Amino acid sequence: MNKTVPRHIAVIMDGNGRWARERGLPRIAGHRAGVAAVRSVVEECARHGIGYLTLFAFSRENWQRPGDEVTALMELLDIFLKKELATLKKNNVRLKTIGHSDDLPPAVLKTLKSVETDTRSHDGLTLVLALSYSGKQDIVDAVRKICEKISSGELALEDVSEITVEEHLATKGIPEPDLLIRTSGEMRVSNFLLWQTAYTEFYVTDKFWPDFSADDLKEAIDEFRKRERRYGLTSDQMKAGGK
Ligand code: FPP
Repeated sequence: MNKTVPRHIAVIMDGNGRWARERGLPRIAGHRAGVAAVRSVVEECARHGIGYLTLFAFSRENWQRPGDEVTALMELLDIFLKKELATLKKNNVRLKTIGHSDDLPPAVLKTLKSVETDTRSHDGLTLVLALSYSGKQDIVDAVRKICEKISSGELALEDVSEITVEEHLATKGIPEPDLLIRTSGEMRVSNFLLWQTAYTEFYVTDKFWPDFSADDLKEAIDEFRKRERRYGLTSDQMKAGGK
């Protein structure tokens, strides 16, 4: 039994479209309902003393969705940030982003930057929004930055290690996720935190994201606490205090 709560929870919030279809509603109604689930999960994480919550809010691939859906998602994000600022402050939540957020519409980017600035001194939960994020692209960006440093002489090839890569990823300074939750029953990682999830515990629920509640989060955390994390060692080695 792993007694501790996860320090970092990452979530692939899937199933908004199917949630809406089941009710004969447009896809955007599913995303709107998804925002309500985001709100309750953020509050629950803040209450549980979770250090980091990373939400896969918009992937780089999502730009290829129908234009009206992309526009609606950007509007929802903007509204969420503006409406939630007071709650984020009340709950001591710091907002961060990972991904190519410069791709976002300028007005949304402006809101995002101002919420990041307004919450930067908070030391409770760090809410990380993955926006225009691609796990593969994150690794490519890191490789490019490292190569630049090698070619300028700032870094020696033989000094490149796993730590070097970690320090050049968008998640620099953020611990690796302990728990990755995916809703809607799909068993894939969908280009999320590819490097960072090497030893993350996966938890998949059939529920669609808009139906994912604070109680479901507690269930996922309880399940996580039952897992034995071995990091490639044996069970006996772990019991003897390994890693
Ligand atoms: C996946 O469901 C969900 C998304 C691509 C977007 C997630 C966005 C939100 C929950 C709302 C905005 C976010 C924030 C942080 C305010 P899907 O559309 O792929 O569902 P489907 O697989 O059933 O079609």
